[in-house]
Amino acid sequence: MNGMEAPQADGPCRSLVSVEVHLHPDEARLALHEEALRGLGLPPKELSPKWLYDERGSQLFEDITRLPEYYPTRREREILRAHAHDIARLSGADTLIELGSGTSEKTRLLLGALRHTGQLRRFVPFDVSEHFLRRAALTLARDYPGLSVHAVVGDFERHLEHLPRGGRRLVAFLGGTIGNFKPRARARFFQEVADSLLPGDGLLLGTDLLKDRSRLFAAYNDSAGVTAAFNRNVLHVLNRELGSDFDVNAFTHLAPFDEEQGWIEMRLISQRPQVVRLPAIRSAAHFEAGEVLRTEVSCKFRPPQVEAELFAAGLHLAAWWTDSARDFALSLSFKP
Ligand code: AVJ
Repeated sequence: MNGMEAPQADGPCRSLVSVEVHLHPDEARLALHEEALRGLGLPPKELSPKWLYDERGSQLFEDITRLPEYYPTRREREILRAHAHDIARLSGADTLIELGSGTSEKTRLLLGALRHTGQLRRFVPFDVSEHFLRRAALTLARDYPGLSVHAVVGDFERHLEHLPRGGRRLVAFLGGTIGNFKPRARARFFQEVADSLLPGDGLLLGTDLLKDRSRLFAAYNDSAGVTAAFNRNVLHVLNRELGSDFDVNAFTHLAPFDEEQGWIEMRLISQRPQVVRLPAIRSAAHFEAGEVLRTEVSCKFRPPQVEAELFAAGLHLAAWWTDSARDFALSLSFKP
């Protein structure tokens, strides 16, 4: 279960790379099966956003981050460019742990600033894809000589207890991915993070902020159709993993903003009545014409709400930064 490897010397810079595995592909597939069985049986039908990110989905998400309408990535990068040194100094961290570490450029801004403080010892990327992590770990270890890179393969909803101990740790959860949790799951997540931290450890959290509805809508319903392709790709994932026969062209993408919940909701809408066979879970899914399959929620926040939720979990806000347009925010909070 715990496939820990001895650290290896890797090339002339003697970087230290190790990988610890808590989530195997078989388990991930089983989780998908369980989820599909539950989520496709619900009214309304729903899937977790984590299935959006197979290789093609991850590429499409990368493409999304470069769309003119999709501001979060650029805004967060702007904040990090301006304040990475403040973050590094305030955190006092020698260990950077990055949850869902799909973001090497932002990681580099943080690593650069932490190294500048002279205290950086260790980088811990934590993600579900072992393949992706290994590649990233080797590249970073090569580019940051002396940095020990300890990759952890896991699901941050299930394996936070396995965050490596020791040193002063800064946990970074960037990109606004926290928005994928609905309120109850979000409270649980904050609590689990807080419980896994020791006094002096910090959490750097990226949150997308409430803003003009038309800009929110445009960011998730882009004119080039990249978000639509990203959303519909999850049906290819299901067809591959479940042996199902979703007719991907019979579903359209829509991502409206739900005023009451304060979230963008990505939907796939069945264009006709259809029955989809799901052989791997010995089941079938019936869709009415116009029926919705929800594939993601992306919550948008007000700063005081974020502070209150962190506080409820026992994390005290130390600093808060936004970009020049106040579109996005980074908060730094500590376990007292
Ligand atoms: C990766 C979860 C932050 O919610 O903005 C982008 C995913 N979905 N476009 C987001 C996403 C549609 C993204 N996060």
